[in-house]
Order: sequence, then C-alpha cells, then structure tokens
Amino acid sequence: MTDTPVDTVVSVPVAVVGAGPAGLMLAHLLGRAGVEAIAVDTRSRHEIETTQRAGILEAGAARDLVETGVSDRILREGHEHEGIELRFGGRPHRIHFKELVGASAWLYPQTDVFVDLADARARDGGTVHFGVKDTEVLDITTDTPRVRYTAPDGSRHEIRARYVVGADGSRSMCRDLVPEERRVRYGKEYPFAWFGILAEAPRSAPELVYAHSEHGFALISQRTESVQRMYFQCDPGASTDDWPDDRIWETLQARVAGRDGFRLHEGPVLEKTVLRFRSFVQEPMRWGSMALAGDAAHTVPPTGARGLNLALHDVKVLADVLLKALGGAGGAALDDYQPRALQRIWRAQNFSSWMTRLLHTTAGATPFDLRLQLGELDNVVGTRAGRTYLAEQYTGWPAGCSG
Ligand code: DHB
Repeated sequence: MTDTPVDTVVSVPVAVVGAGPAGLMLAHLLGRAGVEAIAVDTRSRHEIETTQRAGILEAGAARDLVETGVSDRILREGHEHEGIELRFGGRPHRIHFKELVGASAWLYPQTDVFVDLADARARDGGTVHFGVKDTEVLDITTDTPRVRYTAPDGSRHEIRARYVVGADGSRSMCRDLVPEERRVRYGKEYPFAWFGILAEAPRSAPELVYAHSEHGFALISQRTESVQRMYFQCDPGASTDDWPDDRIWETLQARVAGRDGFRLHEGPVLEKTVLRFRSFVQEPMRWGSMALAGDAAHTVPPTGARGLNLALHDVKVLADVLLKALGGAGGAALDDYQPRALQRIWRAQNFSSWMTRLLHTTAGATPFDLRLQLGELDNVVGTRAGRTYLAEQYTGWPAGCSG
C-alpha cells in the first residue's frame, strides 16, 4: 500500500496521529503559533465524545485550557475541588489541598476537554479527520515522513510532513514503529481492574471520596447534579453482564460504609465498563522525525487521575520543541523533549502506583498486610507531611517540574 496512488496529497509541518485531547491540544498550540498541523483518528468524533474517561484536571492544566484560548467553559461548568476525602477504617479524613499547598483540582470530564478542543480546532480552521481507516506512518527516519489514511468515504490520502506525532492512545500503533531492538518498555500489570459506572442519582458527597476497605477500593466521583461517576476495584476478568444494578450498589455501599453512617444515593445505572489497569512507559519517546505523546508513550493506573494531565504536559513541552525545531533550530531541538517530559512521567508513575497500592486490596493479602496498609493510611492523614505529600502530588507539579 505504501506507494499505491492516493486521491490527495497535502503538505504541512506536522501530522498528528490521534485526535484525542493530546493530539488536539498539540495541534491547537501549534496553530496558535501559526504552524499548521493535521490530525487523524480512527474513531469518529461521536465515539470519542461518548466514551467515559477520567474527570480530574490539575489547576495548571485547567489554566492552560483557558489561557491558550481553547475555552473558558471549564470556569463555568467545571467544579473546583479544594480537597478530597480518604475513607478507611470506616472513617472519613479530609485532605485540604488548598490549605496545605495552596492548590486545587478541577472536576471537568475528559470528554468535555475533548469537545472544547475539537470545537476550538473547528473554530480556528484546523483540519481534523475523524473516522479514518488503514492509517500508515511512513519514512519516520527521514526528513520527509508521511501519514496515509483512508477517509470514511473510501478515498485514500497522504499527508507529507516534517514531523509526525503519535498521540494514538494506549493501543498506539506509532510506538511499534520504534525498532524493537532500540526501544525499552517498562511496565506492570495489576491483579485487579476498575468497574466504572455512570448512575442517575444526586451527588453523594461534595468532593471525591477515595475509599479503602477490607472488601476493596471504591471511588465516588461526580459528573452533574443528576449523574454520578463511581468506580470499584474488581477482578480483571469481570464481565459487566454479571453485575446487575443491585449487586453494584451493594458492593459500593459496603466499601464506603462507616461509623458515620455514610450511604451513597442510589439510582439507575446508565453505563458499566471494566477498565484496564496498568503502568507502562516506552522509551525513547522520539524516533527520527516521530515523537510519541500521552498514552501512546505511557499509561498510568487511574488512581489519582494523572493520565490526561500528563498527556497535556507532554504536548506542552512537545509544542515548544517542535516550534523551535521548525523555527530554524532543526531536529536537535527535539532532543530536549524526552528529558523534559520524562521526569514528570516517572513522578506520576510513582504517585499513581503508590496511591493504587495504598488503597487496593490484593487477593492473598494477609491480615498483617491489611494492617500495614492502614498504618500507612494513618501516616498519610495523621501527619502534616503525609497530607502535604498527597496534596502536592494530586494537584500536580509545576510545568517542567524539578522543584
Ligand atoms: C475520576 C477518575 C479517577 O481515576 C480519579 O482518580 C478521580 C476521578 C473521574 O472519572 O471522575
């Protein structure tokens, strides 16, 4: 297929494979600087918009969406959370981010971030092709890489670019283009998954509740006044068919139950999904004229909601180095990308994995293991240093982070 004729050929500085938040934010940042980027995605816009994803943005990421002119909808429709609740041993413990580190987090679903970015691209005249097939990325070890794809109407197209960015998510095909003998994949599978639901019910709590219990983990999040998002730790082989609403509510209630009599507001379950759970990083994040960003290069377990935030940080750094490279500094400017992105990636990997271990139960854990976990949770909530650590990690680090 590589050199079969195509219906159209266009040339742009940057071609982006993947039009999720990472790919679209990158195209937006480049577009603001007058550099055109075309993005393609195998999914339709509708499919991306209706796939439930995480809901927490660091304050810095929220600010970037507003200040770079994507949209200020987050300020009107998002919810600023000044803390979270950790529940364990049947008791609630508030971690007050604002008081501890002067920062907060925003509850604003990833699907809304995507809608804002897709609308901004359309508003600014950016080109995004959704619903494409047979995407091929060619010649990445040359200065003239290409992306070929089939449009929904069956026509075949080629984008000639100076750089290609693989922002094609956790099942990335771009990352496989880095030769096997030159790439390293670090990762860990966990012996559990998350069962995620959307339920029609009023809010059960004003902020997020991360609950540890001897039965397993649960997370109580929100979406709107009348629709709530919740998760609970489940077996990785779980099937949504085995989980009627009654069983879901019984499980969730048992995991948040406590001496304070806390109960969740129940309602019809609108959607159920079993979410994959793993830690993964591929290095290098750049190969020739191609760079990887977001989930294509790294995946974190969902605990702590780092994934989207990390992806947005990647593309902030990547836009900066691409603009330098295209502005005359050449490919050498891209050498800065991985070191600048990777420090935050490993910090987030550590935090996500730490928070996962802190809150989940593992089959085969002994009563001793459980008490150790409760001891650690007590250390976190019972010391200012512990609370501050959690607050700092959860609300994010300064861009470029060293501090
Ligand atoms: C949500 C998801 C998370 O993984 C998390 O840590 C917090 C919130 C959510 O979907 O709302």
